[in-house]
Amino acid sequence: MVTPVLQIEDLAVEFTTPEGVLRAVDGVSYSVDAGETLAVVGETGSGKSVTVLAALGLLDAGRIVSGRVMFDGLDLLRLPDKKLRRLLGSNLTMVFQNPMSALNPVMTVGRQVAETLVVHDRKLTNKGARGRAIELLALVGVPQPDVRFNQYPHEFSGGMCQRVVIAMAIANNPRVIIADEPTTAVDVTVQAQLLDLLQVAREETGAGVVLITHDLGVVAEVADRVAVMYAGRVVETAPVRNIFRAPQHPYTVGLLSCLPRLDSTVEELVPIPGSPANLLIRSPGCAFQPRCGLSADRDICTSDRPELAAAAADSAAAGSWAACHFADETTAWSAREHLVREPS
Ligand SMILES: Nc1ncnc2c1ncn2[C@@H]1O[C@H](COP(=O)(O)OP(=O)(O)OP(=O)(O)O)[C@@H](O)[C@H]1O
Ligand SMILES: [Mg+2]
Repeated sequence: MVTPVLQIEDLAVEFTTPEGVLRAVDGVSYSVDAGETLAVVGETGSGKSVTVLAALGLLDAGRIVSGRVMFDGLDLLRLPDKKLRRLLGSNLTMVFQNPMSALNPVMTVGRQVAETLVVHDRKLTNKGARGRAIELLALVGVPQPDVRFNQYPHEFSGGMCQRVVIAMAIANNPRVIIADEPTTAVDVTVQAQLLDLLQVAREETGAGVVLITHDLGVVAEVADRVAVMYAGRVVETAPVRNIFRAPQHPYTVGLLSCLPRLDSTVEELVPIPGSPANLLIRSPGCAFQPRCGLSADRDICTSDRPELAAAAADSAAAGSWAACHFADETTAWSAREHLVREPS
């Protein structure tokens, strides 16, 4: 059995707002294995970012109410700041949506990559760091890396900056790379290149990759497994092929039915009908119930909160887990309603 490189267990995070206490992350568990890409999907506000920020001690507000985040036998939530900071940037790295926020505007690109190396390897000479930084820039596809080494971030396009950020993320052979919508800020052609690059990075380092994305097309292309989040909870986790062929949670079906058609010019997902859950109100039942076409006012959906449960081993969804009282009905229901389109 493979041991996960990162394992988030029962993580809960709350924010105190003028309207009351908002539970943004409500008992999230997921894990990623070495060399695996786990895609985390879910509509805006479902807690994807807060989950990873909390896991890595990077939350600037909010309170972690419960949970463990196991990495290398250590619980990151209970690690002294200094130790955690040493792990971040070396063993555990992050790539954010906006590369500009990750780069220092007044330092040359090359020096930033070189410093990432030196911080985690004190024995590295300046010359050695420079050489390795140029190698890394070449690896991530920065042309003329020895020239580009001496340039500043504003001399790079957004896509090139994100390549630099990825170079920094893989510089110290990480075991886990977390990428939070890494391609949202760049145009479509560059998106595909950056995703390829993340795959190369994963192969080079053997790291487990957590890829947060809105784009189910991306999921189909790069993910091994998928965690679907809704209202601060994981509602389904499954091998990627199961997600498209035999979705177990009605919310997953909703996401799939919002996939843009091939002939469509719209790249964004069309939202699922109904309003996202109000995180200020914790109902005793399933948070998706008010928008769910499968629930059909069955009482248990409003009275009991479903926990993740495994699909039958002899079903098409073997290996999937879903938090739905009627998960075993979902695939047939979605086929009946013609809600699911297979991605190209
Ligand atoms: N500093 C904060 N104060 C109050 N609420 C917050 C704060 N940060 C996040 N939240 C709330 O936590 C919830 C989860 O936010 P999060 O950023 O994790 O969503 P997300 O799934 O990453 O969405 P997106 O797809 O838009 O990035 C949201 O309702 C958000 O408004
Ligand atoms: Mg986010």
